[in-house]
Amino acid sequence: MNPLNHVAIIMDGNGRWGIKNKNSRNAGHKEGIKTVEKIIKQSIKEKIKYLTLFAFSTENWRRPKKEIDYLFNLLEIFLSDKIDNLYKQNIKLKIIGNKNLTKKLTKLIKRAEKKTSKNKNLQINLALNYGSKDELINAFKLLKKSNKSINEKNFIQYLQTKKIPDPDLLIRTGNTKRLSNFLLWQLAYSEIFFEKKLWPEFNEKDFKKIIKNFKSIKRNYGSI
Ligand code: FPP
Repeated sequence: MNPLNHVAIIMDGNGRWGIKNKNSRNAGHKEGIKTVEKIIKQSIKEKIKYLTLFAFSTENWRRPKKEIDYLFNLLEIFLSDKIDNLYKQNIKLKIIGNKNLTKKLTKLIKRAEKKTSKNKNLQINLALNYGSKDELINAFKLLKKSNKSINEKNFIQYLQTKKIPDPDLLIRTGNTKRLSNFLLWQLAYSEIFFEKKLWPEFNEKDFKKIIKNFKSIKRNYGSI
């Protein structure tokens, strides 16, 4: 059975769920928070050590301002209202992505990361204003500047995920099969599961089913 240490998730389908059920894309994002909470709880039960959630990509800036503002407001609420709860669950929160965000959000992120920095149960990496190509270019530049030799070991020190093992499993909900500029380096050997359900419909049972399937896969890493 494969050990499961790190799960990464592309939480896709909020907009479609919102339109279908409440005639509002933003209502789908709000509903998506409930799934986030369910999956966090289940991750702890499964003894998963790292959960990386794609909350906002560098490409999501192309969305209407009204939707972007709503999403950032949800993130602010999550980081202010839920942080005590995450702390109590012994969860460490880390943000990956380009941190040039609003003053309010930057302050909330700093506070949340500091408060939970010593927690050990589960590390949640929230990918916010994250784009893998940006991350890779930045890492190449830093490695070049350091004059260290160009090899894998030195390179990964400059990724935002340094000290975080690569995901064992990637789940993308929303019936779409693409990576959308998410963790392109880190997913090199991850098992990928594309889920038909939209993110707000996804639940603990679906998550458990994927984990069960993942555990039975023979992972070869290029060997036989
Ligand atoms: C993709 O669905 C989802 C997002 C861009 C945002 C994800 C955000 C949340 C689940 C809520 C905030 C999260 C946290 C952790 C506080 P989409 O809008 O692209 O859906 P669509 O493909 O149906 O349009």
